[in-house]
Amino acid sequence: MLQTSIWRALTTFSWTINAVSSADCTREGLLATAKSYVDAQTAGKVSGLKLATANFTYQQNNKVSDINKGLLSTAYKIDLSRSTADTVACASYTMWISSSGSKPYVVGTQIRHANNDTATISLIDTVAATTGDLFFNATKTLGYIKTEDWSNINSTGSRPSRELLKKVGDGYLDMWTDSKAADSIPWGTDCERVEGSSYTNPCGKSLPHGGSTKANGNRRYVIDEVIGSVDVLCEFTSLGPWPDSHEIRVIDGKVKYVHTITVMKM
Ligand SMILES: *[C@@H]1O[C@H](CO)[C@@H](O)[C@H](O)[C@H]1NC(C)=O
Ligand SMILES: *[C@@H]1O[C@H](CO)[C@@H](O)[C@H](O)[C@H]1NC(C)=O
Ligand SMILES: *[C@@H]1O[C@H](CO)[C@@H](O)[C@H](O)[C@H]1NC(C)=O
Ligand SMILES: *[C@@H]1O[C@H](CO)[C@@H](O)[C@H](O)[C@H]1NC(C)=O
Repeated sequence: MLQTSIWRALTTFSWTINAVSSADCTREGLLATAKSYVDAQTAGKVSGLKLATANFTYQQNNKVSDINKGLLSTAYKIDLSRSTADTVACASYTMWISSSGSKPYVVGTQIRHANNDTATISLIDTVAATTGDLFFNATKTLGYIKTEDWSNINSTGSRPSRELLKKVGDGYLDMWTDSKAADSIPWGTDCERVEGSSYTNPCGKSLPHGGSTKANGNRRYVIDEVIGSVDVLCEFTSLGPWPDSHEIRVIDGKVKYVHTITVMKM
């Protein structure tokens, strides 16, 4: 009897340790921390975020920098924000727009977590476009993006695979260097492209077919099969060494939305 209960206590103990050390990266955890980022940005207070004490990195427009001197130290009135979650990479992507202040912004931010600990942030990686950047007009961008449907894809059969999303993201960024890349992408017929504030529908229209020898590099991915989206932050080397975000949504195997944020003034 005594032996049995000791054995039980021991197995329960080791099971608990095991459960803690192999905790999953959850969608809920990622989205809760993405929300804390939007709240911190609204307040202009870095102190609202739980940053890793040992190894935290802040990057703005592809440069490692001091978070206390970055965008998060100023309060912005956020008109719209949307977040996606990647439980495999344990990362989230948040897009936000602030159109009303003296300094309008359209921003794409990837947040990464070490050891599946979604409560603690190890990297904030932000691409922030403002007046003077490529096709920049936050009011116009907001007008297009707020009417789009970015709800979860309810039918699991209509969700694209991680592999397809990665392929579409890479195919898009390869169009400037690879003449065949544009035709490798499954364009939807009712698909809209919002590049800065420049609008194209259908989005498979007027695309580059190679021409540059400089590949768009330093690609960082957030892939969300539930929303059906991929966001790639990169250096847009084909046109200039520009910090850039390309976000693409795929529904029923076809591209539905493309958003780009491109910073020219660095
Ligand atoms: C992290 O979470 C993912 C799924 O969310 C899981 O597949 C993976 O095994 C976890 N990694 C560790 C080291 O626990
Ligand atoms: C610190 O963070 C960097 C970048 O996020 C990562 O490459 C490195 O492995 C981390 N180091 C430790 C000791 O966790
Ligand atoms: C931005 O677009 C809006 C709506 O189309 C327009 O009214 C406004 O003048 C534009 N702003 C600038 C700075 O071009
Ligand atoms: C998922 O279902 C909700 C509620 O029925 C609906 O509003 C939404 O448009 C659906 N989303 C997609 C992407 O089909």
